[in-house]
Amino acid sequence: MTGPAAVLELFRSRFGGTADGVWFAPGRANLMGEHTDYNEGFVLPFALGQGIVAAAAQRSDRRLVLCSAQEPGSLVEVALDGLAPGQVTGWAAYPAGVAWALASAGYEVPGACVAIDSDVPAGAGLSSSAALECATALVLAGLSGAGLAGPAAGRRELAAIARRAENDFVGVPSGIMDQSASLLGRRGHALLLDCRSLETTQVPFDPAASGARLLLINTRARHELTAGQYGRRRAECEQAARLLGVPSLRYLTDVGDLRRLTDPVLRRRARHVVTDDQRVLEVAGLLTSGSGDPYPAIGRLLTQAHLSLRDDFEVSWPEADATVDAALAAGALGARMIGGGFGGSVLALVRQDAAEPVRAAVAGAFARRSWTAPEFLEAAPSDSARRLGLLMSRREGGSSAGT
Ligand code: GLA
Repeated sequence: MTGPAAVLELFRSRFGGTADGVWFAPGRANLMGEHTDYNEGFVLPFALGQGIVAAAAQRSDRRLVLCSAQEPGSLVEVALDGLAPGQVTGWAAYPAGVAWALASAGYEVPGACVAIDSDVPAGAGLSSSAALECATALVLAGLSGAGLAGPAAGRRELAAIARRAENDFVGVPSGIMDQSASLLGRRGHALLLDCRSLETTQVPFDPAASGARLLLINTRARHELTAGQYGRRRAECEQAARLLGVPSLRYLTDVGDLRRLTDPVLRRRARHVVTDDQRVLEVAGLLTSGSGDPYPAIGRLLTQAHLSLRDDFEVSWPEADATVDAALAAGALGARMIGGGFGGSVLALVRQDAAEPVRAAVAGAFARRSWTAPEFLEAAPSDSARRLGLLMSRREGGSSAGT
């Protein structure tokens, strides 16, 4: 996790005062259930140790002023009154969108100076944007005393607000998985989320206790058309559900029902969703059964999911396929692409002693193809978004910034 010290220093250098608090929101990886969330299905993500830290202070005017360590030199100022979709673009649209969505939900949004830092790589399919939304939501709720950051019901509402920012302000038609993982994840657990009822279950998930390990491999590839393809997949799923006469693909549990779809593309899309929902429940069952070592079976399910995403849903990309192949050949228990697809990261499940051979095999596969070297990250199921201890409180540190 990026510490509060650097972001407090950024805050001081850009805003010239002391922050009221520091908040953290993690990125996420997803163990199972891809493109199932917007089909009202199941997902099993977990919060990462990496994420966004934000140092913030309230302002007495109605302005949100933002800076980011990842965007040196840029200071974005947003007027809160009259804020509407389309007015802010680029990275600042995510925090501005959260201010807009909170206000639309009837919350009093205070003016604020916010300094942001991140150790979750952007574009790696690890939900750095959802982390930015969730950190901003906690900042604004915390500064206004809206009390949304406490109990689970408040967190669920914040997740919905952060998603609304992404859907309706930024214009990305994503589901609820990423914001839920960031706001509801728990250390040593994966979050089983039923995206129809929004019911959540914390599933114990501690691979290290069984001598296993999760490797997160950022393929550093980002292919064109990402946003458009995501929307197209979503539309295909909705069309398949309409043709089958169900409100969403979640209502189908038997792939045999898909025979009624005459379009082979729609049938494959729906087959991925139905089988991935089943894989989520199987993995959750394996993790909770307590009988024997669940990881070889989970590894096989991961690889099945990758093949389904590659062949049925068609959202994989060459670097992910090569990563999965190399990891399996070097002894991984299983591996798959995670996130929306067309770029980003692969999650590999390995025995402790296979971690180094798998890394070397993946790095070698990239070098042979003259691709940019992949980045290897730790993926430890971690705690959700929270306020961090502040090194200097406003009282100790003197006047507040920007007020
Ligand atoms: C992105 C979206 C999520 C989810 C995944 C695919 O991460 O933000 O809502 O749809 O893609 O599972």
